[in-house]
Amino acid sequence: MSDALTPTPDVPAEAWAGVHRGPLREGEWVRLTDQKGRRHNFELVAGKMFFSNKGHLAHDDMIGREEGFTINSSAGGQYLVFRPLLSEFVVSMPRGAAVIYPKDSAQIVSSADVFPGSIVVEAGAGSGSLSCTLLRAVGPFGKVISFERREEFLDVARKNVTQYFGGEHPNWDLRLGDLAEELPKLEHKVDRVILDMLAPWECVDAVGEALVPGGIICVYVATTTQLSRVVETLRAHGGFTEPHAWESLVRDWHVEGLAVRPDHKMIGHTAFLVTARRMAPGERPPVKKRRPAPGAYGPDYTGPRPADLPAAVFEESADS
Ligand SMILES: C[S@@+](CC[C@H](N)C(=O)[O-])C[C@H]1O[C@@H](n2cnc3c(N)ncnc32)[C@H](O)[C@@H]1O
Repeated sequence: MSDALTPTPDVPAEAWAGVHRGPLREGEWVRLTDQKGRRHNFELVAGKMFFSNKGHLAHDDMIGREEGFTINSSAGGQYLVFRPLLSEFVVSMPRGAAVIYPKDSAQIVSSADVFPGSIVVEAGAGSGSLSCTLLRAVGPFGKVISFERREEFLDVARKNVTQYFGGEHPNWDLRLGDLAEELPKLEHKVDRVILDMLAPWECVDAVGEALVPGGIICVYVATTTQLSRVVETLRAHGGFTEPHAWESLVRDWHVEGLAVRPDHKMIGHTAFLVTARRMAPGERPPVKKRRPAPGAYGPDYTGPRPADLPAAVFEESADS
């Protein structure tokens, strides 16, 4: 693996992006979409056949052609043929753990301000979906260090990322271990830390030590209980700015003549995102002018509490 900020010589441009141009080659993955929108991803192998409920077609009839064509199977089925995009690859690749979907990885890159040349830590690597997106975003001058505590998931992540980029990514450092234990051993500070794990609050102290002043922590959590605990832990730490929490909803639209309406189906929930910036050593964010609602941290609240709260927030809520 190369050092961050040092370009690796003799690395072909496509190794950084995982995007290939020119005619389809043996060993590359293609994505076939049938007339009902069903998708099939597979590796092109000379002499091999693709079978479906509409007969078969030969890989040899695709190898050597420019992607973006329609091909007919032996029983009259029509298939659209392209190389898979990253957003298509990550939702169809083999999974160990649940993956971060493209709508959220796009939010992560933008809200955590992952920039070319940045040094980014990620945990857990899971199936390697976010790793692929981060590696693209940091580019040839950056570095992604991914921690994963389960060996079987680490193997899945390595396989998926290697498949996507067509070989081992030069700027990817995949490490086995628990982030809270391994991060303090890192040789240098990092610009961004992205957490997708069950108990991210357990890693907040280690992340606080690892981040450069101004660095960003971004946390992806699936449930409201996790959301509350991680936000309150960040507040209680004292060395981060006020956490920002949100979710993104993406709704497809049906557009056909006069029938223009939202799709009936959508993915209603994936996860919540939280970001906060690391203050300089010894610095604290300004005291908030807007105080928490009375009772916000009342007797029923059992999580971490920020310092310096007014007495009213510990009382029974007026609504209870
Ligand atoms: C939901 S998966 C991550 C999926 C990944 N972001 C992706 O897009 O493919 C969560 C992973 O975090 C790992 N994990 C949980 N706690 C961890 C920790 N403290 N340190 C390292 N890995 C951890 C789990 O083993 C699991 O593989």
